[in-house]
Amino acid sequence: MRSGFVFERCIQRKRSMKRTKIKELLNCKEEQESVLVKGWVRTRRDSKGGFSFLEINDGSCLGNIQAIVDHSLNEFQELDKQITTGSCVAITGKLVASEGKGQKMEVQATALEVYGTADAETYPLQKKRHSFEYLREIAHLRPRTNTFGAVMRVRSRLAYAIHQFFNDRGFVYLNTPIVTTSDCEGAGEMFQVTTLDLNNPPKVEGKIDYAQDFFGEKTSLTVSGQLEGEIYAQALSDIYTFGPTFRAENSNTSRHLSEFWMVEPEMAFYDLDDDMDLAEEFIKYLFADVLENCTEDMEFFNQRIDKSTLETLQHIVDNQFERLTYADAIHRLEKSTETFTYSVEWGCALQAEHERYLSEKVFKKPIIVYNYPEKIKSFYMKLNEDGETVRAMDVLIPKLGEIIGGSQREENYDILLKRLKDSGLSPEEYWWYLDLRRFGSAPHSGFGLGFERLVQFVTGMENIRDVIPFPRTPKHARF
Ligand code: 4AD
Ligand code: MG
Repeated sequence: MRSGFVFERCIQRKRSMKRTKIKELLNCKEEQESVLVKGWVRTRRDSKGGFSFLEINDGSCLGNIQAIVDHSLNEFQELDKQITTGSCVAITGKLVASEGKGQKMEVQATALEVYGTADAETYPLQKKRHSFEYLREIAHLRPRTNTFGAVMRVRSRLAYAIHQFFNDRGFVYLNTPIVTTSDCEGAGEMFQVTTLDLNNPPKVEGKIDYAQDFFGEKTSLTVSGQLEGEIYAQALSDIYTFGPTFRAENSNTSRHLSEFWMVEPEMAFYDLDDDMDLAEEFIKYLFADVLENCTEDMEFFNQRIDKSTLETLQHIVDNQFERLTYADAIHRLEKSTETFTYSVEWGCALQAEHERYLSEKVFKKPIIVYNYPEKIKSFYMKLNEDGETVRAMDVLIPKLGEIIGGSQREENYDILLKRLKDSGLSPEEYWWYLDLRRFGSAPHSGFGLGFERLVQFVTGMENIRDVIPFPRTPKHARF
């Protein structure tokens, strides 16, 4: 019975032709008697001579393949009205070199099937160009536009290159938990995770009784995998995480998401200089990779989104990042004649406007600012000998500002304990983190790269909401 079924399927498979992706068809050097192409109709044009020209895209590449349908084709009479912009079709035909301009190969249809129609009156992607704001409202259809197809292919390639970069250097890929009890950045910007009845939570002495919550204590979505990453770096030497992180900060800007992906390498025996070296090498590697491997999509961004994209990326790959201390950065900002919304003095956090000014206008390339005041940085960063600054570093790039934040970690038990307390955090909750400083403590460093900021910079897209498939931002989690 079962073997008969398998046999049947084999026969069926032999009979049905294999579909070829459009990317492969467009790159074909030779004509082919019969190919099968499947995809979504981007445009249809009818000629007086009794032909329809369909531009078909299947997302395998930016380019469409042109299919020419002779109106005398049997199926055409029946399917004519169903072949509209947005419909999904399967076309069998002869692959021939195109005589038209700009097309290498085209398909002369010999058979035609419509999988799904798209009503011309109601299909939202009729026009050639739509605003990104409008497209955000139709997140289920926007991947069928040129821009979003290109963004997602480049995003995917960057993810691959990230794994390749670390794998080539002997880093172990580590998955850290999403549900956590600790606030890595100590900033209190966490989304709570609970199964308690919010209308009637259990209480003891007027306070919510988290002992009755799902995990038996208060839990949240992680803001960073760093603390857990440190555990493994102090056993495996070099690890990296690459996963979703969540921040409940109310920042409605073009560079902030409430849910974003972060890449966090953590290395034993690295000091801050080693950390900065790795960050610089990493960014250059990723930019060089997309320039080499996403040429068609990158050309598209360069033409349609930002005309300086290719040149900027190449310039960054070819030049050294500028490294300067926080004190030097403040000094340069104080000296500047530029008017800033936020004034600067030693001790203040650098705002996006300051970061951009320094990298965009002063140095005209990525910069790494290091040795920040202890008071404005997280508790885990290593205190410098001056007692005032910590071994923190931020990589700032033109147009975007901060793309990477990292530091050497405090490996001294007593100093770490004091900094935890000073930050208002409870040493009891971080007992395991302190323990790492009691048993075989090692100097170590790491950083976090915001994956969407990376994609944003590489593609030249203005808004971070347009480089993640489904953006989550304040008041927006629908789809
Ligand atoms: O500077 P951050 O907060 O650093 C950390 O979380 C450290 N634990 C990293 C580490 O040392 N392992 O965040 C790191 C990066 C930022 O530089 C930025 O690129 C990105 O994460 N980022 C965001 N991206 C999008 N939306 C947000 N709301 C972001 N917040 C941070
Ligand atoms: Mg930061």
